[in-house]
Amino acid sequence: MAPVGFLETSVIYCGDNLKRLAEFPTDCVDLIYLDPPFFSNRHYEVIWGDEAEVRSFEDRWSGGIEVYVDWMRERVMEIRRVLKETGSVYLHCDWHASHYLKVMMDEVFGQQHFQNEFVWYYSGGGASKRRWARKHDVLLFYTKGDDWTFNADAVRTPYKWTKGQLRADGSSRDLSKGKLADDVWEHHSLMPWSPERLGYPTQKPVVLLERIIKASSNPGDVVLDPFCGCGTTLHAAQNLGRNWIGLDISPTACGVMQRQLARLGQTIKIVGLPMTVDDLRALKPFEFQNWVIGRINGTHSPRKTGDMGIDGHTFFTHDPVQVKQSEGIGRNVVDNFETAIKREGRKVGYIVALSFGRGAREEVARAKAHEALEIELVEVQSLLGGTHPLARNESTVFGTEIAPVIPRDVATLPTVEELLGEDEGRRAAEEPEDSDSS
Ligand SMILES: C[S@@+](CC[C@H](N)C(=O)[O-])C[C@H]1O[C@@H](n2cnc3c(N)ncnc32)[C@H](O)[C@@H]1O
Repeated sequence: MAPVGFLETSVIYCGDNLKRLAEFPTDCVDLIYLDPPFFSNRHYEVIWGDEAEVRSFEDRWSGGIEVYVDWMRERVMEIRRVLKETGSVYLHCDWHASHYLKVMMDEVFGQQHFQNEFVWYYSGGGASKRRWARKHDVLLFYTKGDDWTFNADAVRTPYKWTKGQLRADGSSRDLSKGKLADDVWEHHSLMPWSPERLGYPTQKPVVLLERIIKASSNPGDVVLDPFCGCGTTLHAAQNLGRNWIGLDISPTACGVMQRQLARLGQTIKIVGLPMTVDDLRALKPFEFQNWVIGRINGTHSPRKTGDMGIDGHTFFTHDPVQVKQSEGIGRNVVDNFETAIKREGRKVGYIVALSFGRGAREEVARAKAHEALEIELVEVQSLLGGTHPLARNESTVFGTEIAPVIPRDVATLPTVEELLGEDEGRRAAEEPEDSDSS
């Protein structure tokens, strides 16, 4: 899709959304949907998709609800800044934090700009004998200003009756258009067997996003998802002819999104994937492992925990690979890997790490001389640069890095009061003079 003004679309930015949003121009996006990690204490280990890849998804907070709400407030303030005056935002949350988040949203957007608490009711699945079964999510719908897009006809729902109802004058009403939508929407959540399911634990159904996008934007508008996960919003926006931008901190999620969107025939740029050894060092261990296995186009070891020393296998020859996010890997790691590959009946294997010590090299030489094992020690630097034969050509996979738009220093973020004050000033300046005043 074409760039919108000087805003690049069809781009997934990998990184903390606070930093990325600060680089966006003001008043540039028509619709924002955000589905942040909830305030709960879960830690997921999931099998991702058909390839039985092990992924982790973290959703945990320490420091209490205040810390969470403060973390969200900073981002919501940037979200409000990048929204156009006519723009809308939907914050997807559940019972864990929706009440705290609503107070925060009122504060940032102004109570007068709260439009709906949209309830997504999903039937099916678990029940409770101790309380009412928890069966809905809440989407807080706010607008930035007093005029906004709402295509009510695009989201009408069918009447339950199939025949025309009689009016008071005896004529029949045409019910074929369906009824205007209300703020409760019933649709099952993604089932384990659903074809659109990618294995991402909090993936939302694409119809939910299509509904929101149809109602609150027009073709050609810009839709932004700052916590885009496996890309449901981007997928829906693409289906509906909207421009889109996605942000997510997880390189793993960005890779999955790219694969999914490429299937829709869309050319996509991913910006901000790890480019240096320091970037890789900063990744969470599971992200590091995913990055390495992805970089060599390998397959992940299907076991969720206790990989017994083998984290994946190479693509063509299916040789075992072990990944270590450490420096100066020593003799004992190689020693354990030898046991692991012998258990698999293999003669060749790779250990990928930040760097290796002398002991590791000596052990590799010993294993070759005495046991005919070919263990190669691979420094991640050689995968990054594409100099290692195992590494794929980065440009064919990830696209090119593009310059960010209008850099903005996060330290210059305005306070909530300044933000609202600025708006009052702007509105007052735009108010027409009262010609009737006497
Ligand atoms: C609840 S999931 C979103 C799921 C998404 N709606 C979908 O349908 O796939 C939340 C996402 O937020 C991302 N995330 C968490 N912290 C982030 C941050 N600071 N910046 C950008 N993304 C972040 C996580 O990596 C995760 O993919």
